[in-house]
Amino acid sequence: MTGSIEVRGLSRTFHTTVRRPGFAGALRSLVNPERVAKHAVSDISFDVAPGELLALLGPNGAGKSTTIKMLTGILTPTSGEARVADVVPYEERERNARNIGAVFGQRTQLWWDLPVKESFAILRDIYDVPKAEHSARLREFDDILELSAFWDTRVRHLSLGQRVRCDLAAALLHDPPVVFLDEPTIGMDVVVKEQVREFLRHQVEQRGRTVLLTTHDMTEVERLAERVVLINHGRLVLDGTLDEIRRKFGSTWQVRATLADGHTDVVPPPGIALLRQDGPQVVFGPDGSEAPTVHQALKAVIERYEVTDIAIDEADLEDVMRVAYAHAGPPAEGA
Ligand SMILES: Nc1ncnc2c1ncn2[C@@H]1O[C@H](COP(=O)(O)OP(=O)(O)OP(=O)(O)O)[C@@H](O)[C@H]1O
Ligand SMILES: [Mg+2]
Repeated sequence: MTGSIEVRGLSRTFHTTVRRPGFAGALRSLVNPERVAKHAVSDISFDVAPGELLALLGPNGAGKSTTIKMLTGILTPTSGEARVADVVPYEERERNARNIGAVFGQRTQLWWDLPVKESFAILRDIYDVPKAEHSARLREFDDILELSAFWDTRVRHLSLGQRVRCDLAAALLHDPPVVFLDEPTIGMDVVVKEQVREFLRHQVEQRGRTVLLTTHDMTEVERLAERVVLINHGRLVLDGTLDEIRRKFGSTWQVRATLADGHTDVVPPPGIALLRQDGPQVVFGPDGSEAPTVHQALKAVIERYEVTDIAIDEADLEDVMRVAYAHAGPPAEGA
């Protein structure tokens, strides 16, 4: 068994009835309900290789959670297919459950009224994890996530950040090769977020787990993901690296330099425009033609001019994503 994820032409349409306004409308809706189709996920294909961490990105309502629900077997697709560690998740939910761990940041999988440790013990029994292995794994999780300070507390009394850390541990106790994390760091403070990131890095790099993660935190994406899949209105917009997203949606860098004496007539290198000049102080940006990367631009400027000071401003990933989300097009017909 390999921990790969394969998604082919996956689609999910929801049918809902719309309520007409007012009393007469409510009556009409009752007699003659108006059904509308919502294409939450439309013909999405991508792969995640074993041991890879992929970030599934998109604005609110893009279809990320719906995709994860199909991959965890909670929802059945309308069409297309998926395989997770060689299992079709919605056809063999139980077999799939042994191969995956899942955390939904918005709600817990733990027993609300039990102390966390008892939840862990129940999971150990459910998944038949040998005692020694279970304890060793808990120690490993505790080392990074610092759970022992509160794992005797009832789940209902935990803070959000504490609860999600326990959910993470619970999801990995049975050593699954594939992990789905839907907004795992939602509402966490910066210190705990960093703890969780370190934990995930450890799980991918040391334990070889395959991770599919959704988040709205772009710092997280930069720290954790080499590859991203971007969806919007249920459709795949881009499958690539962060660099590719930057290149496609946000080549908005600037190179600010102070030129040494003697540069009066500034002719910038190819692909680079002189945006502003104030005496020896110049600002370069992409000229919109071949758009070199910021690093290529930096090199070209240094090679061409004698500079006494140089700095770069790169559009941060949040700016780039704002452009990417806006560019991703209107909803498909009937969506
Ligand atoms: N059970 C359902 N019935 C009807 N519509 C649904 C259902 N579940 C999801 N949707 C719709 O499908 C679309 C995609 O929802 P989904 O939860 O997958 O988005 P998301 O990308 O996870 O968004 P967010 O970032 O806000 O979590 C939304 O328009 C949502 O309203
Ligand atoms: Mg969601």
